[in-house]
Amino acid sequence: MNKKTLLAGACIAILVACGTAKNSTPKVEVMPSQGDVDRVQTKFPGYTLDELYQGKQLFEANCNLCHKLKKPTSEPESEWKEIVPRMVKKVNSKEGHHIDEAGQEKILRYVITMGSVEKS
Ligand code: HEC
Repeated sequence: MNKKTLLAGACIAILVACGTAKNSTPKVEVMPSQGDVDRVQTKFPGYTLDELYQGKQLFEANCNLCHKLKKPTSEPESEWKEIVPRMVKKVNSKEGHHIDEAGQEKILRYVITMGSVEKS
């Protein structure tokens, strides 16, 4: 092997390494954090990170029964206020699933909070 081949080999190795590193990065899910809770504190006074997590759990456990989970960012707040009660009725028509009013409010707050994350 001459120097040129070695150099070319090194370049390819680096490119491949970078490419694989990029591809293997998992899609990062937006995890709710205290910052999100603080951001919507005026909208939802007294809102806690616990409630945000509970909303996320309810959403993930019930809102993919008929279609894939929708992204909180997929709808504006005004739409979610109309959609969530309509979809909760659908969830409750499914055997073994029941979301009460408090649960509905948690889902609504979750999608509104995580749907209003600043897009970078
Ligand atoms: C029993 C089945 C079912 C469940 C459970 C369900 N959905 Fe849906 N969803 C539908 C259907 C069917 C549509 C298509 C529009 C329609 O029929 O209202 C839809 C449409 C939507 C849309 C698109 C916007 C729109 O107005 O059509 C969103 C967003 C949505 N669902 C969110 C949710 C959320 C959030 C939950 C959990 C609270 C949920 N869905 C649970 C059946 C369901």
